[in-house]
Amino acid sequence: RTLRIGLIPGDGIGREVIPAGRRILESLPASLNLKFSFVDLEAGYDTFQKTGTALPDKTVDILKKECDGALFGAVSTKVAGYSSPIVALRKKLDLYANVRPVKTTAGNSNGKPIDLVIVRENTEDLYVKEERTIDTPNGKVAEAIKRISENASYRISKIAGEIALSRQSIRDAAPGTATRSQPMVTITHKSNVLSQTDGLFRETARRALAAEKFSSVFVEEQIVDSMVYKLFRQPEFYDVIVAPNLYGDILSDGAAALVGSLGLVPSANVGDNFAIGEPCHGSAPDIEGMGISNPIATIRSVALMLEFLGEMNAAAKIYAAVDGNLDAAQFLTPDMGGKATTQQVLEDVLKRL
Ligand code: NAI
Ligand code: MG
Repeated sequence: RTLRIGLIPGDGIGREVIPAGRRILESLPASLNLKFSFVDLEAGYDTFQKTGTALPDKTVDILKKECDGALFGAVSTKVAGYSSPIVALRKKLDLYANVRPVKTTAGNSNGKPIDLVIVRENTEDLYVKEERTIDTPNGKVAEAIKRISENASYRISKIAGEIALSRQSIRDAAPGTATRSQPMVTITHKSNVLSQTDGLFRETARRALAAEKFSSVFVEEQIVDSMVYKLFRQPEFYDVIVAPNLYGDILSDGAAALVGSLGLVPSANVGDNFAIGEPCHGSAPDIEGMGISNPIATIRSVALMLEFLGEMNAAAKIYAAVDGNLDAAQFLTPDMGGKATTQQVLEDVLKRL
């Protein structure tokens, strides 16, 4: 099988880490029977300065017409009125799920192993941005619409269930390292207060996850405030957490803090027919050009993208190589307390691959 991958490095250290992601794809073991072709695509602040748009139509067209998946680095946001290309891409390609795994390894944990993933609905909730400000005799009042639909709640819950099953299959492929025996999905909401909006999300998620194909998945739920408390007290308990847009946004940044460096945390923007892998960090102008950016968030994003393209074995091999690098702790970038360069970390992961 040959997969065509769009490469969108963007700005700053995006240009240092995306080439590392490409090298990983090019270096997968031949036994996997996977080949890749690449197309370089533009987006970001520098593109905006050159062309007047942060996301050229050509980039979107090629992704839609030619590509199976893509890797997105990071973009800088420096001026008002500039709109983020990744937000536009999510809309144009209908990438309705934002998936962020947060994981420790034996060598990189303060005790209990964390291995969870937050699945955030990406298209609605308060982020429909229908706000208004009204002048009243008693001063201004601002209000915003929180929109929750049955369809969006259903598809995000279904993909959360599928991710839970896929994570179990990756655990099954690497026995001995598995930290749990049954997949679990935690539905997060505030339906005790918002009985209609979050109530619809909760009910729909319950219904989606009651499907026969998810019979092996343990389904539970948490009110979002208690979710935050438990996530920080007992992160090792969680597997897949599914949430509406706003709660998911907050939970996923909070969860990233549990594992130390931003340079470790991957994400994927996922739709029914496309996946974009994207490190969670930004363009890191403070270390740009120094050759010391941590490539691991991107390498893990490569694996995550492959999972959504159905290549579980390839993903498992990449995760294992990264864990090996972190556990050995011989080649770590400065954000991890080490002295290695981007290139040295990449070479070490490639050797393990
Ligand atoms: P940032 O994530 O770029 O950097 C935060 C801190 O983490 C910096 O000290 C940086 O050196 C460090 N860091 C980040 N990634 C690293 C890596 N791979 N290896 C080692 N250290 C790493 O966030 P910041 O500084 O708030 O934003 C910088 C620019 O990036 C801004 O223009 C911002 O708008 C943009 N940004 C873009 C994002 C995206 O494209 N998705 C996400 C977050 C910020
Ligand atoms: Mg956020």
